[in-house]
Amino acid sequence: MKKILITGGAGFIGSHVVRQFVTAYPNYHVFNLDALTYAGNLENLADIEAQNNYTFLKGDICDEDFINTLFETHQFQGVIHLAAESHVDRSIKDPLAFAKTNILGTMILLNAFKNLWQSNWEGKRFYHISTDEVYGSLGATGLFEESTAYDPNSPYSASKASSDHFVRAYGETYGLPYVISNCSNNYGAYQFPEKLIPLFINNIIQNQALPVYGDGNYTRDWLYVIDHALAIDLVFHKGNNHETYNIGGFNEWKNIDLVKLLCQQMDVKLNRTKGSSEALISYVKDRPGHDLRYAIDATKIQKELGWNPSVTFEEGLSKTIDWYLENTKWLDHITSGDYINYYKQQYS
Ligand code: NAD
Ligand code: DAU
Repeated sequence: MKKILITGGAGFIGSHVVRQFVTAYPNYHVFNLDALTYAGNLENLADIEAQNNYTFLKGDICDEDFINTLFETHQFQGVIHLAAESHVDRSIKDPLAFAKTNILGTMILLNAFKNLWQSNWEGKRFYHISTDEVYGSLGATGLFEESTAYDPNSPYSASKASSDHFVRAYGETYGLPYVISNCSNNYGAYQFPEKLIPLFINNIIQNQALPVYGDGNYTRDWLYVIDHALAIDLVFHKGNNHETYNIGGFNEWKNIDLVKLLCQQMDVKLNRTKGSSEALISYVKDRPGHDLRYAIDATKIQKELGWNPSVTFEEGLSKTIDWYLENTKWLDHITSGDYINYYKQQYS
């Protein structure tokens, strides 16, 4: 059995990637390493946790001795690295935590992989999952291409950019076989309700204000998380070593337009009067250093690997809302406890 390590598999995207690999590849043993921070939740994997090609390991990627021993014990041939601090607003409040996990944690994994395999690289691969935010902010036109220069603006995106550079450096210096992908904003089931879409779904359910930052005219490109997991599967198996792939939904939305669409769909699904969710919109203080626009040119993965998003945004959003409405227990577990303190600090 091929042994694959997926880091951050109890998080939002990681849980979809774990599910994809455990179900599509019975000939792989998938080890999910996760520290179970506030963002990690084993409930995200309840449906596959009993599969015999799956093992959960609780641990911190910043614990060097633990990671080295883990690699020596299990001899992972492939690594898909998603573990990270992932929320921009939290990075503004606590940038050091982002440097530690996203930069140092990535280096510790790279080092363990390099020390384990030395130059015996045949059949090995280190896949680093990154973000389009490393490219900085676009004006009204243009798209991020794989060759776009890095220009990160937030502590989160700077830490991700730095980790990307270390992955490349290990490739150039030690010949480590890596691939990197840089993806746009994901949405879908199991996303922690600190990010725009699940936070607003939860607030609409609770009849609470919808805090739109600044004038709401910021633009993001949105991708359904299952399409990202399928893209990760393709890049892991078919991507070329030492290359980067941009992944995006060909789907740009101004925040305020997205929020209005969400409100319309929620009114119908909750059987509320038309316009009642929109009435909850409240413009609040802007995010410092807020990037104006992200937009991905995903033609490389489309042309070279034959990947395309499978759902329209309207369909994906509708499925996402349905999932949150059907999984109120999941939402209740998350939004009790520490979440209340986070919410007060961020939005009061
Ligand atoms: P998330 O915050 O939902 O999950 C992160 C996971 O990593 C959690 O399960 C957490 O417990 C774990 N983790 C954090 N620190 C750890 C540590 N020190 N050791 C071990 N595990 C640790 O994040 P996400 O949104 O699923 O993002 C996953 C990855 O994809 C990140 O690398 C992120 O930068 C990248 N990404 C996210 C998006 C997006 O829209 N969410 C888009 C592009 C790229
Ligand atoms: O582009 C990929 C990135 O997308 C990922 O690398 C990050 O991990 C992920 O968090 C996401 O970053 P964003 O900052 O774009 O996502 P967020 O959901 O936090 O915000 C989306 C937009 O909505 C952004 O312009 C800020 C705005 N926003 C967000 C929140 C949480 C609001 O207006 N109000 C809010 O309360």
